[in-house]
Amino acid sequence: MGERTLAIIKPDAVERRVTGRIIRRIEDAGFTIRAMRRVQLSKREAEGFYAVHRERPFFASLTSFMSSGPAIVMVLEAPDAIRQWRTLMGATDPAKADSGTLRKEFAQSIERNATHGSDAPETAAYEIGYFFAGVDLA
Ligand code: CMP
Repeated sequence: MGERTLAIIKPDAVERRVTGRIIRRIEDAGFTIRAMRRVQLSKREAEGFYAVHRERPFFASLTSFMSSGPAIVMVLEAPDAIRQWRTLMGATDPAKADSGTLRKEFAQSIERNATHGSDAPETAAYEIGYFFAGVDLA
């Protein structure tokens, strides 16, 4: 079984048609994709997803970007999935991301950074529940 985390291939990466390359990297790294869906978020839905960041100066810009085009949302499963997925993504700012990470390869800026991952078990539970019902993960 292992742990579950919520992963997003963000609108910048979908628009640039690197979804398949990112999914290949996910599977090669040993994650099981337990659920997956393409979503077009409204501004309000993006604000709900990123509610923990609502006081941050980048909140308006971030939620506009995240609702600007389709994204792919996934539940990834692996032992230590939350930490492992964050390691594969690399640092939020691609300028600081290690070589070999997804953000180093695919991100364009700290905002248009190709992927998202939950940062803790409580966040993962909220974020998975935001997009998927229990029946999708049975
Ligand atoms: P993510 O891991 O999805 O979590 C919050 C997002 O806010 C982050 O990736 C970036 O897309 C975006 N963001 C924009 N500016 C910043 C910033 N200065 N620090 C952190 N996140 C930022």
